[in-house]
Amino acid sequence: MFRPSSLARAVPRARAFASTAAAQSAIRRVAVIGGGQMGSGIAQVAAAHKHDVTLVDVSQEALERGKGYMAKSLGRVAKKKFPEDAQAQSRFVEEVLGRVSLSTDLKAAAGSAGLVIEAAVENIKLKQELFAGLAAAAPEDAILASNTSSLPIARIAAPLSAERKRRMIGLHFFNPVPQMKLVEVVRTDEAEQQVVDDAVAFVKGIGKVPAVCKDTPGFIVNRLLLPYTMEAVRLLERDVASPRDIDTAMKLGAGYPMGPFELCDYVGLDTIKFIVDGWHKEGQGLAGDKLFAPSAKLDELVKKGHLGVKTGRGFYEY
Ligand code: 3HC
Repeated sequence: MFRPSSLARAVPRARAFASTAAAQSAIRRVAVIGGGQMGSGIAQVAAAHKHDVTLVDVSQEALERGKGYMAKSLGRVAKKKFPEDAQAQSRFVEEVLGRVSLSTDLKAAAGSAGLVIEAAVENIKLKQELFAGLAAAAPEDAILASNTSSLPIARIAAPLSAERKRRMIGLHFFNPVPQMKLVEVVRTDEAEQQVVDDAVAFVKGIGKVPAVCKDTPGFIVNRLLLPYTMEAVRLLERDVASPRDIDTAMKLGAGYPMGPFELCDYVGLDTIKFIVDGWHKEGQGLAGDKLFAPSAKLDELVKKGHLGVKTGRGFYEY
């Protein structure tokens, strides 16, 4: 069974967010669409920085699951914040959770939000429909943002009016959201500078570090991370080394906190396959690029339902 190596701890990492800092941006109310790991992480961090947050999903069950992710993660943060004080820990968790409302009513949630962040499944049609609904419901001056990891923001925004397109950007968070400091702020050609500036202020206000970039495939991090990850899978396919040895090599030889196979399992093999296949098949300027060719090994694991940590088996067993 795989356990994260204690050697990974030697690598300097971003500190957990400072939950007491007041939000610096003018945005008060945030709606987060999608209660999965990413959406609940975004909702948690925004609420911990004094925003009123509505977490939206299609069912009460999905929302309760999202609340469970937040409670667990906040528990870890609280233990570090108040190491000797169990009461202060639970007060902190309750206070942050108290700022997150759960809702299945997308329009009502968007109707009062200054910022809407979509973190639903990576399906272009679904996202376009979602944003059409959000555009109809959100205040005119609200910022609309997608947390997509691989779909072009301009394509998601394609059905929207010119005015809405000017207020639509990407806000790409990283897993685990409460721990990872970076947020990519993705600007389309249509986005107004003021919207980008407001998004940057929001990101700083929730204790994260923004990196502004253009709307190109993979933005910055995934554009560099995916070729690296796929090369690791091809090393395995060519039987150059085992997943364990490749992971050890990259952690101890390159200083990465996780090796590529640990990271694949952590992010989810279905997510990795979705990104790679999308770029390979659909083009987006990367069509046919060998860096993004499908991998038989990855396809086989996904077909068997071995998606990583979340299914108990990926490249490793858990
Ligand atoms: N909530 C709150 N805190 C968390 C957390 C969570 N869900 N998960 C981890 N942490 C905190 C821990 O409390 C601990 O804090 P401390 O250092 O202040 O004590 C710290 O993170 C380290 O956690 P652990 O000691 O439990 O475990 P590790 O040392 O093995 O670190 C890790 C875990 C932070 C996940 C680290 O391995 C890491 O940084 N891995 C790389 C993650 C990465 O690359 N993410 C990006 C993926 S790509 C992506 O998301 C883009 C998408 O589009 C695909």
